[in-house]
Amino acid sequence: MKQIAHWYLSSIGAKLVMAVTGVLLFGFVLGHMTGNLLMFAGPDAMNAYAHFLQEKGMLLLAVRAGLLAIFAVHIASAIRVHRQNRAARPEPYAVSSYLVTTYAARTIFVSGLIVLAFVIYHLLHYTLGVTNPEFLRMLDPQGRRDVYGMVITGFTNRAVALSYIVAMLLLSSHLSHGLTSLFQTLGLHGPKFKPLVNKVGPAVAIVIFIGFASIPLAVLSGRLN
Ligand code: HEM
Repeated sequence: MKQIAHWYLSSIGAKLVMAVTGVLLFGFVLGHMTGNLLMFAGPDAMNAYAHFLQEKGMLLLAVRAGLLAIFAVHIASAIRVHRQNRAARPEPYAVSSYLVTTYAARTIFVSGLIVLAFVIYHLLHYTLGVTNPEFLRMLDPQGRRDVYGMVITGFTNRAVALSYIVAMLLLSSHLSHGLTSLFQTLGLHGPKFKPLVNKVGPAVAIVIFIGFASIPLAVLSGRLN
C-alpha cells in the first residue's frame, strides 16, 4: 500500500493515473456524443435510447458512481501534476520556448477547470433538473421521459446554447492536448511517431467539437425543433 502511494506521488505515477483516467473519460465522451447524435434521428430514436439507459437501474447507478470516481481521480492527479510542474519550473517559460508549445498545451489546466464547471452546470441543467425542474416532468406520447424535447427546449435559450458551444470549444482544446500528452506518456514521441501523434489529438478534437456543437447549432438555426 505504502509503495503504491509512493508511486502515485511520484511525477510519472500521477501522469500515468491521469492518462488512464483520461482515456476512460474520453471513452465516455465519445459514447455520449454518439448517443446525443440520435437527436438528428428524431424524438422517438432519442427517447428510446434514453429510456433504454434509464431502464438499467442499478447498473446505471454503478456506471455513474464509477464515472464520478474516475473524474475525481483525474482531477486530483491533474492538480498534483500541475503543482509538480510549477515546483520544477518556478519561473515562467522564456519567450522562445513559450512560442513552441501549442495554445492547447499552455491552457490545459484552465480548460480542464472550465470543463469541470461545465459538467457541474450540465448535470444541474439536464440530469438533476435543478436549473429547470420542468425538464424532469416532460413525457413523450409513449409516456417515456422526453429527453429530445428537453434538449430542444434547453437550447432554444440562446445564452445557454452559446455557453454550450463555448464549453465544447474548450473541451476540444483540452482533449487535443490531453491526447498528445497521453502519447508522450506512452513513449510515442520519437521522430518516427511525432508527425502522426501531433495530428491525432487535434483531429479527434475537431470531430468531438463538431459532434457535440452540431446539436445546439442545429437548434439555434431552426434545423432541429
Ligand atoms: C451538446 C452537448 C451535449 C448534450 C446535448 C448533452 C445532453 C445530455 C442529456 C440530455 C443528459 C441527461 C440524460 C438523461 O437524463 O437521460 C446528459 C447527461 C450527462 N452528460 Fe451530457 N450532453 C452534452 C455534452 C456533454 C459533455 C461534453 C459532457 C462531458 C464532458 C457531458 C457529460 C454528461 C454527464 C456526465 C451526464 C450524466 C450521465 C448520467 O446521468 O448517467 N455531456 N447529457
